[in-house]
Amino acid sequence: MESTVRRALNLLLLISLSFFHQIPASPPSFPDEALPTKSGYLPVSPATSSAIFYAFYEVQEPFSSLSQTPLVIWLQGGPGCSSMIGNFLELGPWRVNFLKALNDPLVLEPNLGSWNRKFGLLFLDNPIGTGFSIASKPEEIPRGQYTVAKHLFAAITSFLQLDPQFKFRPIYITGESYAGKYVPAIGYYILKKNAQLPVSEQVNLAGVAIGNGLTDPLTQVATHAVNAYFSGLIDEKQKGELEKAQLEAVRLTKSRNWTAATNARNGVLRLLQNMTGLATLYDFTRKVPYQTELVTQFLQNDEVKRALRANQSVFFEECSDVVGDALQEDVMKSVKYMVEFLVKKSKVLLYQGHFDLRDGVVSTEAWMKTMNWDGIEEFLMTERKVWKVSGALAGYVRNRGSLSHVVVLGAGHLVPTDQPLSSQAMIEDWVLERGLFGYQQREDSLSSM
Ligand SMILES: *[C@@H]1O[C@H](CO)[C@@H](O)[C@H](O)[C@H]1NC(C)=O
Ligand SMILES: *[C@@H]1O[C@H](CO)[C@@H](O)[C@H](O)[C@H]1NC(C)=O
Ligand SMILES: *[C@@H]1O[C@H](CO)[C@@H](O)[C@H](O)[C@H]1NC(C)=O
Repeated sequence: MESTVRRALNLLLLISLSFFHQIPASPPSFPDEALPTKSGYLPVSPATSSAIFYAFYEVQEPFSSLSQTPLVIWLQGGPGCSSMIGNFLELGPWRVNFLKALNDPLVLEPNLGSWNRKFGLLFLDNPIGTGFSIASKPEEIPRGQYTVAKHLFAAITSFLQLDPQFKFRPIYITGESYAGKYVPAIGYYILKKNAQLPVSEQVNLAGVAIGNGLTDPLTQVATHAVNAYFSGLIDEKQKGELEKAQLEAVRLTKSRNWTAATNARNGVLRLLQNMTGLATLYDFTRKVPYQTELVTQFLQNDEVKRALRANQSVFFEECSDVVGDALQEDVMKSVKYMVEFLVKKSKVLLYQGHFDLRDGVVSTEAWMKTMNWDGIEEFLMTERKVWKVSGALAGYVRNRGSLSHVVVLGAGHLVPTDQPLSSQAMIEDWVLERGLFGYQQREDSLSSM
């Protein structure tokens, strides 16, 4: 998750929760059926003991042989937030009971919208130093996307060697928020690396998907004011003030003053937070922030750590400030050129929960339409279709060639938390090219032109 304001808010909430209510004394239990198929550590380089923590859940209802069943990899944002938030609050097969009453015990519940219904699902705590991952020295924590990708590549290739059935499975790399940087970075790295490797050593990348991502910050930071103004959340005078702050962030980004540019963007978000007084910019309809601290509380338990095969000496934090600081100069750097490369050689899905004021629909469309890709004009001329799941309105889909864009209604920044079934339908249809994502659909729209 992409945050600073949020971390502070959550901390406040956590403090007030533990102050006014006793946290149940009995440790949360980890049902056997909720255990990952495999979990543990993957090396990032032979030269260090730094390692990426992973949790893998095999497909629940395979539609083909395992060796052909797609593998979906999930990366959380931050920078520095754990993919276990994605696992236990968003798209994993078992989630914490985040709708529970305050004094109810914290337990895991099956998630009907899990992304491992049709695919294998792999969560990676990335980069090292995040979640249960281990940075043997702080200096080894990546300071830019090249090192992030190099470490992820090592971890993914060693994961694929754990089982001969894994080797040729199509791989989809997905993630949210600051993973709008990581996902293009590892996708790009894989394609470049594959070009130098014999087929037998290549990684079978089939596509990348980004939810509510930060990808082209220069364009995105300039969209908050109009978005909030036309949503009726700020007035014209406040819009002017916010635009002034945005222009400063743009100016600093253009002059490659990276630290100052990151600070200026944080200033823009603080200002928007202050003007709107919302519980969270991640979802303007929420009365309280996302309950990520429940996952943290769950994962700090020793029994839970043992069940997950996480290193007992690692103290779990939702987001690591050390990792956040290491990537401070990376925040405003664009990876749009990597998405442009991926859309030519692979397939790309960009989806956003509609209620997000940080990295939402307007923010994404702003950079998407500037993509240097010869399919972009056709894409923009393609009709945006009304999307239904089980007969009910779920959002909007625009799909043309290798690029797909989805607006998820009734969701904020954490789409699978808010709309588990829509998010599952989206990822399954996009991977399997069914429904609005199907080839048939593309042919239909061609013939009707
Ligand atoms: C970066 O921007 C800050 C804030 O405007 C300024 O104080 C600093 O001198 C700038 N640094 C460089 C190298 O231009
Ligand atoms: C916004 O900032 C001002 C000035 O610092 C402060 O007085 C006010 O309480 C803030 N409002 C909110 C909603 O945080
Ligand atoms: C657990 O992590 C610590 C560093 O945080 C490391 O020294 C130790 O060797 C690790 N233990 C295992 C079993 O990997």
